[in-house]
Amino acid sequence: MVRTRKTKKRTPATAVEATAPTANLSDAETLDLRNRAEELRDLIRYHNRLYYAKDEPEISDPDWDELFQELRSIEKRYPQFQTTDSPTQQVGAPETTFDVVQHREPMLSLGNVFDGEGLREWHRRASELANVDDFAMVTEPKIDGLAIALVYENGKLIRAATRGDGRHGENVTPNILTIQTLPHQLKRKPPTLFEVRGEVYMPGSGFEAMNRAIEEENLQLLAEGRPTKRLFANPRNAAAGAVRQKDPAITRSRPLAIGIYQLGWSDGPSPATHWETLDWLADFGLPTAPLATLQKSIDPCVATCEVWVGKRDGLDFDIDGVVVKINDFAIQRQLGVVGRDPRWATAYKFPPQEATTKLLEIAINVGRTGALNPFAKLEPVRVGGVMVRQATLHNEDDINRKDIREGDTVVVRRAGEVIPQVVGPVLDRRTKESKPFEMLERCPVSNDIAVRPEGEARYFCPNPVCPAVVRRTMDLFVSRGAADIEGLGEKLIWELFENGLIEDAGDIYALPDKRNDLLALERMGEKRVDNLIAAIEASKTRTFAAILFGLGIRHVGFEVAGMLARHFGAMATLQTASVEEIAEIEGVGPVIGESVVAWFAHERNQQIVTKLGKAGLRLTEEGGAAREGPLAGEQYVVTGRLESMSRNEVESALKRLGAKVGSGVTKKTTALIAGEEAGSKLAKAEKSGTPIWDEKQLLALLARYE
Ligand code: IVH
Repeated sequence: MVRTRKTKKRTPATAVEATAPTANLSDAETLDLRNRAEELRDLIRYHNRLYYAKDEPEISDPDWDELFQELRSIEKRYPQFQTTDSPTQQVGAPETTFDVVQHREPMLSLGNVFDGEGLREWHRRASELANVDDFAMVTEPKIDGLAIALVYENGKLIRAATRGDGRHGENVTPNILTIQTLPHQLKRKPPTLFEVRGEVYMPGSGFEAMNRAIEEENLQLLAEGRPTKRLFANPRNAAAGAVRQKDPAITRSRPLAIGIYQLGWSDGPSPATHWETLDWLADFGLPTAPLATLQKSIDPCVATCEVWVGKRDGLDFDIDGVVVKINDFAIQRQLGVVGRDPRWATAYKFPPQEATTKLLEIAINVGRTGALNPFAKLEPVRVGGVMVRQATLHNEDDINRKDIREGDTVVVRRAGEVIPQVVGPVLDRRTKESKPFEMLERCPVSNDIAVRPEGEARYFCPNPVCPAVVRRTMDLFVSRGAADIEGLGEKLIWELFENGLIEDAGDIYALPDKRNDLLALERMGEKRVDNLIAAIEASKTRTFAAILFGLGIRHVGFEVAGMLARHFGAMATLQTASVEEIAEIEGVGPVIGESVVAWFAHERNQQIVTKLGKAGLRLTEEGGAAREGPLAGEQYVVTGRLESMSRNEVESALKRLGAKVGSGVTKKTTALIAGEEAGSKLAKAEKSGTPIWDEKQLLALLARYE
């Protein structure tokens, strides 16, 4: 591969630096600092090469920012340690395999702020300089892709160039012409010669489809004993790689999109504000950046940015912040540019979703089904705004495929509410102490020999009464779709176990008689105990189906529990049913039949059922509190074509779980589930900021109750 030296594009975090005299430094300290600056320059160059030329970064953006900031701060405080070829100095055009073009107006980058206060500070300084109290601003999601400048002549796209070092970029016109949504010829009457700028990116759904295709291809390559292909690390790298292909046919096969966010320059007349400009550009048929808003003043502008933080995961593209631009071009011109950053715009950056840290230990957690799930114990690290100490590792195969070892430095990713996960090791930082992973042979809780059923990627503890399995089943039993006992959380359940107050779900109903024992527990006052007892009492009105679901029988999710309850009418009948009798029910089948029969075959499980019956729970189908599903209160709208289910199937699955399914997006909509070729509903959801889910997210939701 041709190695191209590219200059820095990522924007460093702004740092407050003081200049310091060197006179009071000892010789040893001077030498240390000089060496450190040298080391930092090498490191940054190395990582820049990986990032820009190879599109295979080894460290996360925030880690890179840290290196860059450290270097900048040393160079600023001690200018004698600065070199002209330092990555902080940005000189020279990048060597490249594409033609180099000069931008008529430099392509700027953006300063950063990291919270509402930072944004207000930026606003204060801008308004002081412009001598106005307030001004209107446009907010745009900061899509994580790569910047492109497009020149149109007589409405025809004649040149597309990357940002490069801001002054010179690469001519990638043939590649950009392959982007489906980008018109080669504009509509109406655009200026004779003008340039627009925007972000080329890869939507998340396209990115995943592409990686899935590579995985499939790899299976074939593996079978033929040929080397496999690497998956793309993230949509940004995939987009950058696609744009820099030598063969446009390859670019064409990659699912790229573009959002135009700026007028570069124009030889003809153009609007006086940025907001009008976006509309003006859209009228020529240009795909302008989605979800821009106009804010009249700083208060709602800050609020909008803050709301965006929560909406980030509902989008089909990665965003790492919100760009805030002053709307009025007259004010923009007045404020001008400092260095590479305009004073009239800034980026409100989100907390990073990835970080690197040390993997201390690979431990095993026993799930409700007895699955032995490896997870990582980490040196605590801040990701996405929270401290992360643990992350999932999926399964043994996954750990081996990624070659994740104890002692490795690993990349940790956390997106929204999703459990943090270990993306992979930073091989460059592996030490001799790192230890390849070996799966435990026994369940760490019950000590039974673990088994790996055929076709499963995971090992299981085969003991159905393994304490870990029983306790996790309790978590399910008390949950909303089951017995719905508020105030009995995971922590309290473990405490009750540890103190010998319960052994299974049936014992919950003896707790009201153990008031004094409950009061003796930590953090359990009179009021909490009263509330808990009331919630236990209330659970006696739950339906048979809900209780059956709460037992945690393998393959008996909320829906199947309902079918079994309706068909057999009573626990007593179900308890004595044969595999065949159960399998007969439409939509049930022998796997579920066997699982149910096996469950009831255990004496301990029969005892649980007896205890529940004695406590007065409803173990027959008639009556019971209204059938509240786990999704009661949620409202979904389904649109577009889904791959694995028809829309009707999706709707009935959601309804069976208690959700409502609406026909249009409203304020009450929990999420819009959008398949392929989703139309106006998608646009409406985007506009109103309603969370948008893809098929994968829907399937994950349904799977949770299956
Ligand atoms: S404006 C003022 N607007 O962010 C001119 N940039 O850190 C600077 N970006 O190089 C660009 N979305 O790649 C602007 N709506 C948006 C953007 C955006 C993403 C990227 C762009 C730029 C970088 C600046």
